[in-house]
Amino acid sequence: MKTLIVANWKMNPVNQKEAKNLFEAVKRGIKSVKNTMPAGRQVEVVICPPFVYLNLLKGLTLGAQNVFYKEKGAFTGEVSALQLHDSKVKYVIIGHSEARKYLNETDDVINKKIKECLHEKLKPILCIGETAEEKKIGKKAEVLEKQITEDLKGIVTKEIKNIVIAYEPVWAIGPGDNCSIDETMSSILFIRKVIFKLYNRAISDNIRVIYGGSVDGDNANSYIKNAGANGLLVGGASLHAEEFLKIIRSVK
Ligand code: 13P
Repeated sequence: MKTLIVANWKMNPVNQKEAKNLFEAVKRGIKSVKNTMPAGRQVEVVICPPFVYLNLLKGLTLGAQNVFYKEKGAFTGEVSALQLHDSKVKYVIIGHSEARKYLNETDDVINKKIKECLHEKLKPILCIGETAEEKKIGKKAEVLEKQITEDLKGIVTKEIKNIVIAYEPVWAIGPGDNCSIDETMSSILFIRKVIFKLYNRAISDNIRVIYGGSVDGDNANSYIKNAGANGLLVGGASLHAEEFLKIIRSVK
């Protein structure tokens, strides 16, 4: 399985020039990393810029940061999976805690978005994670199980292999605390346990579960090597080409 490294640029950078510069620097760096990578130890890198930059950036796998669940029509402000597919997008981040918080995205809406993405052959990166408060009152497991169960409702066994689950504890996002390796490992195991309950052993073993929350060049490799993550979802550090390349180099 390739290690999946996803850059979530969020609402950055502020203009096309900076977006292109960042993208090109990452692209150049990846080329040289790939030349030194042993065969079979490949890393898949996905860049998720804001919608407005998607069509400017070429030469690396692209992801979007959101999507709407209808195919087309009178839905002002929204972008469809069909349109993303046409813009050569392969992955879509869905259910990010910032969308849950600022756009009031519910598990029901997230579920519809995942289904629409699968219908258009896009790979959803489903973000789940507990808040600091939920963790404090001992509700982490309950929250994760509810999110997984509701977000994947009605998604059948053969579709699930196209889904990536990103464990992003909300309290670990942004500058500050990252999640410890032990805690990440136990959350990933718990996520696999829920998937086992909903599907089967093979799916729970094979579904890609990645980690996000204050990942940088120094801690990245531990999440892969010691916490059992199949990849990383990187926010802040993905906005600095050198730091992002350091992450890629460290996990290869
Ligand atoms: P940071 O890497 O900035 O903590 O952001 C994580 C994140 O939200 C990625 O989706």
